[in-house]
Amino acid sequence: MNTDSKKIIVAVDGYSSSGKSTMARRLAKATGYRYIDSGAMYRAVTLYALDKGMIDAAGNIDKAALTAALDDIAIDFKIMPDGSQHTTLNGKDVEKEIRSLRVSNNVSPTAAIAEVRHALVAKQQAMGESKGIVMDGRDIGTTVFPAAELKIFVNASAETRAQRRFLEMTEKGNALSYEDILANVVSRDHIDETREESPLRRADDAIALDNSQMSVDEQDAWLLDRFNETIAKL
Ligand code: DC
Repeated sequence: MNTDSKKIIVAVDGYSSSGKSTMARRLAKATGYRYIDSGAMYRAVTLYALDKGMIDAAGNIDKAALTAALDDIAIDFKIMPDGSQHTTLNGKDVEKEIRSLRVSNNVSPTAAIAEVRHALVAKQQAMGESKGIVMDGRDIGTTVFPAAELKIFVNASAETRAQRRFLEMTEKGNALSYEDILANVVSRDHIDETREESPLRRADDAIALDNSQMSVDEQDAWLLDRFNETIAKL
């Protein structure tokens, strides 16, 4: 049998800090699929807008200027020698910068701009043309790949997600308090769920996973089972 005909698209959506990127990345590694972090693409556009002065100190975005510049923004992913992926913006490695607080604080409003979403969704759809891809984000199962063969929607309580993020930040030497992180998680959930353009919601045919009580290994095994079941049904 031609194994290429058995390649699928896996859409992993969910709340911020729900562990969806870890799950998606590890499934891609286990299956030899390409992994795409769609959030990194929204972060790269935000970094571009910040660097070009299109977002002021109060967080106001010059939408007209950003929309006009969208064709000049080239986003790609570069595979590093250790197998990890780094996001590039117009050829420059921006992996570290896109994870900064400066970008995190401005990304949700940037990702709510319809023109930004249309441009990035088109790029994401092109990346999935030959399937064999795991993409994580907020609207992958609803908007980017509504016909994806396997859709997962991940959630965990806001407290669990804030705690995970707190530990991650503390390990990186960041001194933010748990309360501040929880407030940021709750506020990002609200912006992501209530925006007009493709709000965060579970696709009707997505499998819901609450991983509050799961270890990373349990989560990996669960997802690989869903993947194998889906392939077996093709
Ligand atoms: O997953 P993340 O935290 O890196 O995502 C950054 C932001 O981008 C977050 O506010 C939600 C938004 N996003 C989106 O709107 N659609 C996606 N497909 C991925 C991310």
